[in-house]
Amino acid sequence: MVDQQTHTQNVQKDSNKNENFSLHDPPHRTKKEALIIFFQGSENLLPAGHSALKKQISEFLKNSAFKGQAGQVSILPFKDRQLILTGLGEAKNFYNGLLEQAAGAAVRSGCAAGINTYAIDAQIKLKGVSEADYQLLAGRGACWGTYTFTTFKSDAKKTPKTTLVFAGVVKGRTAIQTAEKQGASLLSTADLANLPGNAAPPAKIASWAKKMAKENGLSCQILGPAELAKKGCGGILSVAEGSAQDAKMIILKHAGTDPKAKPIVLVGKTVTFDSGGISLKPGKGMDWMRYDKCGGMAVLTAMQMIARMNLKTPVVGILGAAENMPGSKATRPGDIIKAYNGKTIEVLNTDAEGRLILADALGLAADLKPAAIVDLATLTGAVIVALGSSAAAVLGNDDRLIGNLISAGATAGERLWQLPLYTDYTNDMKSDFADLANLSKSGGAGTATAAAFLQEFVPEGIPWAHLDIAGMAWYQSPKPHQAAGATLFGARLLAQWVSDRD
Ligand code: BES
Ligand code: MN
Ligand code: ZN
Repeated sequence: MVDQQTHTQNVQKDSNKNENFSLHDPPHRTKKEALIIFFQGSENLLPAGHSALKKQISEFLKNSAFKGQAGQVSILPFKDRQLILTGLGEAKNFYNGLLEQAAGAAVRSGCAAGINTYAIDAQIKLKGVSEADYQLLAGRGACWGTYTFTTFKSDAKKTPKTTLVFAGVVKGRTAIQTAEKQGASLLSTADLANLPGNAAPPAKIASWAKKMAKENGLSCQILGPAELAKKGCGGILSVAEGSAQDAKMIILKHAGTDPKAKPIVLVGKTVTFDSGGISLKPGKGMDWMRYDKCGGMAVLTAMQMIARMNLKTPVVGILGAAENMPGSKATRPGDIIKAYNGKTIEVLNTDAEGRLILADALGLAADLKPAAIVDLATLTGAVIVALGSSAAAVLGNDDRLIGNLISAGATAGERLWQLPLYTDYTNDMKSDFADLANLSKSGGAGTATAAAFLQEFVPEGIPWAHLDIAGMAWYQSPKPHQAAGATLFGARLLAQWVSDRD
């Protein structure tokens, strides 16, 4: 079945960052690729034909524990190659993310078994998923499946080069090339996203962004403490006050092809470590708060995808990077600060720091007269209570924008669930002493009241959506398709959404 090779994708990350893999055309055949086969329960999703193969597989399945469950993988020999069976679970529970994860799980298991050349059929028998979407999801998932975070492992071995072949007749090449570009972008940001607080202060994020921008034809501007003070960005500065690390506002621009078009602005919370500040978090699990930069990491990744895909729409990415620490200069509970748009904020809890940073970033975003603003943030523990690690919350002031984001997320395999943004929540964020408080009076609806606070920094008339990704940005334990650590949730759906608008 791999006789009509039409495309090879090198899915391996190597030390040569940003040139992680490339297309080979004509492909270099090795004849021995491991063949990845998707299953929905006991049903294989191979397209028509392949009868010998299908017969062999059904023989194997008779006395096998492999049931095609989501995350389940089984490797078996067939003639001169290996078959990697990978499960999507039952059809009724399917969403696109499971396809990407199944491809990732297959490659992750394969890599562990020493396999480094893979083939996937270019077609799949899967209702509701177009051929192009299938190729994008499977190709991107396979890339991501090769990733390991070894920066701090003294005994790390150099991973061998990994290649993926799309077998069979490929109609167009775009989807596979897109998969490769997006996969490369994910791999490129992964190490940065996984770095602990000591290794990735705001200055490190800024220099990384600068280099990435240069390599991908983006412009990059960094605002340090002096520029931020001059602009009146009292939100981000108040968060960084207790830290020895300077705050940085990082602004990346993708020019697009239409200079008259209004830009889209993507804003990312980039708290390099969130101790809570003076409102100190409990010690247990505090190490996790290295992940509080993951909104920014998703934006960095999406900007890279958008640049590599050469999308027409102008896109600006803004990362508000700061460390939240309880130093002697730290902001105190009760302190009143002033954000970029002039509104004053009573800081009742220094652990509600993300919204202070976003307040400034959203104000700067609004100055660009954008067509839309989307912000991503690991903003509230409450979203984990509401949705767990199954979906991110989306809230905003424009139902069309929200609908488009939800549908881009469905295509990209990243689920969003809308929460309401009633004016009750806005009223809940008023302060007795300033325009706003950073903590709700009632204590309920943590995710929605945070969003209501953010809304105060977006001028009316600008479509805006907020994605609370606190439950989605990080795996606490390894999954079949990826190790513990940053998921870069949000990047895939942002790239899809911008590309849908093109
Ligand atoms: N980065 C956290 C959000 C968070 C908390 C993510 C717990 C995952 C687990 C954010 O800065 C924060 O601390 N939020 C507070 C807000 C509260 C003080 C209003 C929270 O959710 O507890
Ligand atoms: Mn916090
Ligand atoms: Zn935080």
